Amino acid sequence: MTGRVVVVGSANVDLVVDVPRHPAGGETILGGDLRRTPGGKGANQAVAAARAGGADTTFVGALGRDDSAELLLASLGGAGVRTDTVDRVDAPTGTALITVSPDGENAIVVAPGANSRVRVGAAQARRIAAADVVLAQLEIPLGTVVAAARERREGALFVLNAAPSRELPEALWEQVDVLVVNEHEAADLVDDVADGTPEALAAALLDRVPAVVMTLGSHGSLVARRGGEQVRVPAARVEAVDTTGAGDTSCGVLAAALARTGLAGLAQAARLAGAAGALAVTRPGAQDAVPDAAHVAALAETLGKAP
Ligand code: RIB
Repeated sequence: MTGRVVVVGSANVDLVVDVPRHPAGGETILGGDLRRTPGGKGANQAVAAARAGGADTTFVGALGRDDSAELLLASLGGAGVRTDTVDRVDAPTGTALITVSPDGENAIVVAPGANSRVRVGAAQARRIAAADVVLAQLEIPLGTVVAAARERREGALFVLNAAPSRELPEALWEQVDVLVVNEHEAADLVDDVADGTPEALAAALLDRVPAVVMTLGSHGSLVARRGGEQVRVPAARVEAVDTTGAGDTSCGVLAAALARTGLAGLAQAARLAGAAGALAVTRPGAQDAVPDAAHVAALAETLGKAP
């Protein structure tokens, strides 16, 4: 393992408004000033892998030929992410409309635009084949996610963050080495389980994939491997300002850590990921809120050693 990560996914410009509460259907409310910031689950995860995780990171995505694309390339490049595998296409760069309530919770609608054109061509395939970890989410075509997973080399890990929630085709299930989900996404992916505890959900998911990291918000995360014990990783206590992109920050850091250690370091990777996500919620924005590696390591130390 040499610490190389390729993130395949979406890039969006986030149009963000702070609101006193999220509006109901048919309702108009007044919010704060509009912020225009770099986002998109894939780009957020790439920035996190590079900045907070310290990995050699490539982003595979698609952007339009507009100002939004320049904003995203500047953010990715500023974090040290390689962007020579990002296609420029004749479609508007993806855009996310986001409202954030005073408790930091968000509501998001995505207009995918160029993200619908993300593909794995020859250049992308070459970079994927050199990676230790390939990380993807579900804001791009599922066929592209499957194609990216299939291009990884023997021994490289395919980490799927199954967000936003979608039904997964068999061709994708069979590629996954590590599945990262929150409790809602986990429940969407499994048939009825006897009880809805995270442990029961994780056990059901282990019928389909070898390893699961389930994020549990203020309760930390649950790490489960087929044939192994399930491990709870505690959460750091922080004051939430904006939860947008915090899960993406965790995924990026998880991938970066796994690219150094392989699956053997999964619990420790989840501890670093949890610390990174906790730091991310203390600042507004998605990529703008990604912490640096030193702060992540320092907070992770306070969480106690994961087995
Ligand atoms: O996970 C947060 C991200 O979801 C935002 O940055 C937004 O662009 C959407 O993709």
